[in-house]
Amino acid sequence: MHVTTSGFLETGNIMIIPVFEGFKKAPNNVTLNLSRGASIAVKSAFLSEAFDGKIGESLRVWTKNCQVILLGLGEKRDLTLKKSRDNGAKILASLSKNHGTKIVIRYTTGWNVNKMAAFAEGMILRDYSFDKYQKEDDDKKGSWSLICQTIERHQEALTLAVDRVHAIATGVHLARDLGNEPANKLYPEEFGRRALEWAKNKQNVEVEVWNYAQLKEEGMYGLIEVGKGSIHKPCMVFFRLNPSTDKDSEAPCIVGKGITFDSGGISIKGSSGMDEMKLDMHGSATVFGLFQALYATGYEGRVNGITCMAENMPSAEAYRPGDVIDTYSGKTIEVLNTDAEGRNVLADGLWKASELNPSYIIDLATLTGSIVVALGHEATGLFSNNKALSEKIQAAGDEVDEISWPMPLLPAFEKQMTSSKIADVRNQGKGRWGGASQAAGFLKQFVQEREDKEGGKSQIPWAHLDIAGTAGIWGGETNVTVGHGATGVQVRALHYLITQK
Ligand code: BES
Ligand code: MN
Ligand code: ZN
Repeated sequence: MHVTTSGFLETGNIMIIPVFEGFKKAPNNVTLNLSRGASIAVKSAFLSEAFDGKIGESLRVWTKNCQVILLGLGEKRDLTLKKSRDNGAKILASLSKNHGTKIVIRYTTGWNVNKMAAFAEGMILRDYSFDKYQKEDDDKKGSWSLICQTIERHQEALTLAVDRVHAIATGVHLARDLGNEPANKLYPEEFGRRALEWAKNKQNVEVEVWNYAQLKEEGMYGLIEVGKGSIHKPCMVFFRLNPSTDKDSEAPCIVGKGITFDSGGISIKGSSGMDEMKLDMHGSATVFGLFQALYATGYEGRVNGITCMAENMPSAEAYRPGDVIDTYSGKTIEVLNTDAEGRNVLADGLWKASELNPSYIIDLATLTGSIVVALGHEATGLFSNNKALSEKIQAAGDEVDEISWPMPLLPAFEKQMTSSKIADVRNQGKGRWGGASQAAGFLKQFVQEREDKEGGKSQIPWAHLDIAGTAGIWGGETNVTVGHGATGVQVRALHYLITQK
């Protein structure tokens, strides 16, 4: 989507006029440059009883060259950023390209820049489909262009705001592309290849891929054991933004679970819905998308990313229940279920992240079915060893409507996960209750401690985001910025978290 801002000039093929409840007549500016006939039709539409601006209401007026859509947004004081964004997304989803692709939004009275930008953001986010494997291509009708029209006074700020949300959306869409790729097209090495290609010709980014041989040299058997059953061998991908900036100071490190397909391994899953497990690399997709978003918005700080890529398959070479894994940390894991693989790969990712002098570590993972039971598709599960970090993540999520809901990291779960008879940690709890908290209690064992200001030792600030319920939409309608498939969740929230002073 090509996006610009201007005054009330051209009319486009589709003109959207979002309006608040309680208007008496057509707002000023609304009919500028429409033909006389069209103006009359639009003004009468405003006076008609069919439309009074209630939320969800819309009225379409067909004029000769332009379809004019009056869109109700309800009471002005009730319009949150979320409502504005969602309404933008919904209206975009309802449009057809049959009569041209030039959209104009006329923001008339009652708008501020943030809400205008959120409305456009909804449209931009929703303008996405994954159709590269389909013959019939909607793109033949061209892609949308969008002109955001407002009064002179707002134009400069709106241009900046819209450019920014547009840049961030490139990261969201990249994360969705990666998430939607089938597992026979996107496997660990291919993810690594795409990351390297992305970094090419970008001055301030670096990508490094540790292949199978290097993982062995480093002793990263958490990742190796999970991935060795597949012909597509595992790898670890490092993302570095502005690597030479403030080298000696701390920088955030974002870690992603990248299981390009999770069959469950020897503890194989049932067949119903197994196709969705191509999305089990969405943590890594979010990391990649986040780096794109940070790059595209010109963020100048240093940020590190690590993705743990593997395909979890059953085979003669696959790891088994009962095996003991020697992880990168030196701690051993007793494998009780090969389907609890995400935590095994993250064990190495988190330990490695701890070595990078991080200000904080955040991991993202489609980790447990249990978090979907707890929170449905409405919120990401948030576990953290640090209250300040946890609150910042919640605030960022609230701001951009990618909600993170705090879940407890209870000592009892840690105890469960460290009660193996033969290893340091076990990869499955003692029953099914609290599965998401068990997993978090496991991960916590792989976040290093370091010396703190008081001379004691404490764990690096860390948060774990279980995105199993929020990474994909397979029929629900809770996330209207997405039609189907991967959501790109947490790219916008983490971008906000990192870039906000
Ligand atoms: N990738 C799954 C979790 C998942 C479930 C993601 C549904 C998205 C939607 C994960 O690897 C898994 O299999 N977890 C098991 C853990 C159990 C074996 C301890 C689960 O949650 O059942
Ligand atoms: Mn699994
Ligand atoms: Zn998994």
